[in-house]
Amino acid sequence: RKSAPLPDDIRAMKGGTPIVSLTAYTTPMAQLMDTHCDFVLVGDSVGMVLHGMNNTLGVTMEMMIMHSRAVARGLTSAMLVVDMPFGSYEESPAQAFRNASRMMAETGCAAVKLEGGVHMAETIAFLVARGVPVMAHIGLTPQSVNTLGGYKVQGRDASAGQVLRDARAVADAGAFSVVLEKLPATLSDEITEEIPIPTIGIGASAGCDGQILVHYDMLGLFTAFKPKFVKRYAHLGEDAEKAIATYAEEVRARAFPAEEHVFADKAPAK
Ligand code: KIV
Ligand code: NA
Repeated sequence: RKSAPLPDDIRAMKGGTPIVSLTAYTTPMAQLMDTHCDFVLVGDSVGMVLHGMNNTLGVTMEMMIMHSRAVARGLTSAMLVVDMPFGSYEESPAQAFRNASRMMAETGCAAVKLEGGVHMAETIAFLVARGVPVMAHIGLTPQSVNTLGGYKVQGRDASAGQVLRDARAVADAGAFSVVLEKLPATLSDEITEEIPIPTIGIGASAGCDGQILVHYDMLGLFTAFKPKFVKRYAHLGEDAEKAIATYAEEVRARAFPAEEHVFADKAPAK
């Protein structure tokens, strides 16, 4: 693909070849995933993964804008979506528009993502009517970790009906897609069959219209813990630590730098 898809193109992928996406926070990683992904998300997971925060609640607009500008510089063929951070959109539709429009203007993102179902539907409709494409995020919504009682699987037993209502509400409000996080596979399939917009699964099911993972998790670069839904496709963290240990050894043994890494008195003849 030559140019990045638009939110409508992603919407049109409903029921087709699964939508591929990953999170990114930096230019070099964005460059690596650009041609392989339909969209790239600058997730507020950046707070935990890159900044050592305990949860995503301390992530600010400024952090999201800085990382999103870096990611934008690395993308040409994948669409850029940016998470709205905690506290930047929940108060009112007007607050959400003020911050979402700033996010779009300062980062060039094609869409924003925000957490919440039925209770955010009015805000989603308000944004979409004013030119802000919205990706919704339901099920486990990490910005609500303190009211959800931890990072538990959502939608088991009685709460399945609420998650289904959340899915319908965000679709009716005009979201162009919705992330389903940490839900039973059968409920994820049911939602995917029932709503007209693509579902993007993370800890959901293979039946979703697309999948997303945090790249630091799937590359084995974030090893503080591993959620069940993460598959490690590489172990770059281990490789990086081995490389650092070898460097340390070589410096202490004066084996690095070697002759090929240092400069002669005179420039070599051409
Ligand atoms: O912040 C994030 O990385 C996310 C994805 C995991 C969906 O919201
Ligand atoms: Na997020």
